[in-house]
Amino acid sequence: MLTNRNILLCVGGGIASYKSAALASKLVQAGAHVQVAMTRNAQQFVGKTTFEALTRKAVYDDVFIEHDPSKIAHIDLADEADLIVVAPATANLIAKLAHGIADDFITTTILAATCPVIVAPAMNVNMLEHPATVRNIEQLKQDGVQVIAPGVGNLACGWVGKGRLPEPEDLVATLSTFFEDKYLAGRKVLISAGPTVERIDPVRYLTNDSSGKTGIALAEAARDAGADVTLVHGPLRIGLPTGISTIAVESGEEMLEAMLRDYETQDIVIMSAAVADYRPSVQYDQKQKKIHGPLRIELEETTDILKTLGEQKQHQLLVGFAAETTDVETFAKQKLIRKKADFIVANDVSRSDIGFVSDENEVVVFGKNDSVTRYDQQLKSTLAKSLMRQFAEALA
Ligand code: CTP
Repeated sequence: MLTNRNILLCVGGGIASYKSAALASKLVQAGAHVQVAMTRNAQQFVGKTTFEALTRKAVYDDVFIEHDPSKIAHIDLADEADLIVVAPATANLIAKLAHGIADDFITTTILAATCPVIVAPAMNVNMLEHPATVRNIEQLKQDGVQVIAPGVGNLACGWVGKGRLPEPEDLVATLSTFFEDKYLAGRKVLISAGPTVERIDPVRYLTNDSSGKTGIALAEAARDAGADVTLVHGPLRIGLPTGISTIAVESGEEMLEAMLRDYETQDIVIMSAAVADYRPSVQYDQKQKKIHGPLRIELEETTDILKTLGEQKQHQLLVGFAAETTDVETFAKQKLIRKKADFIVANDVSRSDIGFVSDENEVVVFGKNDSVTRYDQQLKSTLAKSLMRQFAEALA
């Protein structure tokens, strides 16, 4: 994906700039043509020589020092770049980019660029959460810049929190998605993920073990393929991807409403959420007291969201999941017909190495035209890419 791509790596003045050296190295190893630009402050942390040795190219840091007088470097580099990456992006660099300030090599070049720009913020958690930084990041997103969410962990300043530059290998993986085939460009994809929560009283509820990993992986695959993605999700313990719209819900009823809100305009709709089949018939406003004896809670069926979507389907390609422990194929095929879906992705949740909380899955996809496609055990992220391809190919 990265072979022969021109990548301009802009290094800001933060301690995380040491990771940018590894990033430059990995991008070169992946076959990219890497050109580095640095701020003066970045050079307080890592020297130009390091990047020049890794990329075998001169590092740019001054608009007025031309390495080749026949060229105007900040314009040429802006024109040549297929992608510009700012890593680490300091609060200062982000503020300048958000306001169109061009007072050094990096900011001037980015202002002259028309290619996609990715910004990877890395800083102290309080700087990251300062209203000014939040506002500036929001402005960059509105300007079409992709912002990579910082990681959570130990920060150089001694704080533990959000603000770490993602690891170089993760950054390389994110950058390579930029060059993937945009086979879903112009398409809208709606995905549900995670568990639902059905309240008994204000502090108690019924839920399940769904991690939301499959839905999130599908959302990322659709986003990387160029789709406009909306993810409707129940409570999750894992972070949400950037570059997609998200709607947080709790109950099945809330999920149903969110899925129907913009259903008509969608091209692909995937119900990967583990929706609770039952909810308490009565939901108490007050915390219920112990009754010193057996307690019965009456449950009533929730609305089947997939079935409702199937009944209201017009042009959309509708995909459901089937989590089974026995007779996977029989039950999956029944669901395909009963819920009027185009595909049912079936998996065996009796196995502990795949399924709900695992990073891997093995599935069989049943199509309404009697097609059966088997996918061997693999990472959910890899599987999601193959599934999304299959769904896209079935689009009218
Ligand atoms: N589903 C839904 N709304 C519900 C229950 C399930 O939309 N109230 C969707 C799930 O998101 C999934 C598919 O239906 O895409 C299959 O869910 P599953 O729980 O496996 O099947 P059920 O229809 O609940 O049938 P059973 O419990 O009998 O297996």
